[in-house]
Amino acid sequence: MAWTREQRYQDYSNYSETLIDGLEKQADTSRYKPKFHISPKSGLLNDPNGFSFFDGQWHVFYQAFPFGPVHGLKSWVHCTSDDLVHWHNLGVALPAGDRYDLHGAYSGSAQVIGDRLFLMYTGNVRTQDWQRKSYQNGAWMDKDNQVTKVTKPLIEQPAYVTDHFRDPQLLKVNHEYYALIGAQDKQTLQGEMSLFQSSDLKTWHDRGYVKHNLNNLGYMVECPNLIDVDNKKVLIFCPQGLPQNELATANIYPNVYAISDHFDFEQNIFQADSNKMVQLDDGFDVYASQAFNAPDGSAYLISWIGLPEITYPTDQENWAHCLSLVKQLKIIDGKLYQKPVAAMAKLRDNEQILPKKERVLVENAGQQYELKLTLGANQIGNLLLASDGTTEHALQLKFDTTEGYLLVDRANVGEKFATEFGEQRQIGLTPNKSLTLDIFVDHSVCEIFVNGGQKVMTLRYFAENTHTTIAFSNEEIRDYSGQYFTLQDM
Ligand code: FRU
Repeated sequence: MAWTREQRYQDYSNYSETLIDGLEKQADTSRYKPKFHISPKSGLLNDPNGFSFFDGQWHVFYQAFPFGPVHGLKSWVHCTSDDLVHWHNLGVALPAGDRYDLHGAYSGSAQVIGDRLFLMYTGNVRTQDWQRKSYQNGAWMDKDNQVTKVTKPLIEQPAYVTDHFRDPQLLKVNHEYYALIGAQDKQTLQGEMSLFQSSDLKTWHDRGYVKHNLNNLGYMVECPNLIDVDNKKVLIFCPQGLPQNELATANIYPNVYAISDHFDFEQNIFQADSNKMVQLDDGFDVYASQAFNAPDGSAYLISWIGLPEITYPTDQENWAHCLSLVKQLKIIDGKLYQKPVAAMAKLRDNEQILPKKERVLVENAGQQYELKLTLGANQIGNLLLASDGTTEHALQLKFDTTEGYLLVDRANVGEKFATEFGEQRQIGLTPNKSLTLDIFVDHSVCEIFVNGGQKVMTLRYFAENTHTTIAFSNEEIRDYSGQYFTLQDM
């Protein structure tokens, strides 16, 4: 069905309970619906928002349009957890439709302030002739999860940016508040990050664009996050429209990071260790990741598994996308590592030690599992997931630990989609070194953690649910070991 603008932006009250029930049932019966990832009850999910720890619980919200697989009037849906693994969906917490968020409560973040959680988000407003206006708004959430919006915008769009001005990350540094906001400069039409400062969350001072040594931020920066990881400052963001010589990426838009020893809030300077940014995820489908520092200082990250402007097979079923597992961030030897949180082990059911010297590793792996595999140095082969026993129908992980690479190929696994952005993704590895993979499969989601989280490759795929063999495509792979676990629903 083609969605008109009127349909996308009408008030939620125009949709009947019966319609929502029908959509939820349809999504629920989908064979592609993840069972241990946050996915929408109905309609579309995109960015994670307001990731935080408040009142003894973990909180994450997500951008939602609950009535179809399209980007329409966005609200925040609220999920809570005791362990970052089992999440409860509490429904819409921050609806759009007020004067300063009339056409969407767009992305933002959260900070615990006193005994409440402060949400800072972008209000998307369109004029009669559909010109955009972006407001940075606030809202308070109390311990009963009741959200009350601040009636006036915190920050209005400065004259020198275009209407692309959004996704505030609220930071608290030495009794001062800062908001880091994605922006597009009106003169240059280049991507920038704006910094605003406040001591009371009411009066905000424009500190200008963040001065940095990164080569190029494309034409717009979405979802900036500044995070402390093991005494380093990591800046995570989504630069749109980067030239390929800046960052060779096949994804429509990348999610990247840069590392520094310091963020100079006085001078508003981020001097990165390298002027080249790095892809956060080397797979196909990660975007708009959000990170925050927990009370004990640990850094956690959660991503949208989905990309803007791409059609996915579940659109046919009226729902779209999911969030990633929660990943803990670490800096090891100056590099950013992402590891699935340790509590993920709680979902493990049956453990199977992989058979020795076999081509077929697991005959019927099902749709929810974790596969841990170590391949020795000097192994060349092809690991098949979601296979019907052949290489013709399988998700292929081609590895060569002699030359040092891993290539993920989704060309032969189920329904085709987003083929114009390529069907392979490849990463380089240190030659002649063993390779460890920790792979999580949840129906249509696959997250591959490489060498203890040094690289992550995330993807969706849409295969027959009878295709459940895990095998090597050739007999020669001898030097390997590993475990397979079935995983429960969250
Ligand atoms: C990123 C994004 C954000 C915006 C939100 C709207 O995916 O475009 O920049 O706030 O989605 O849903």
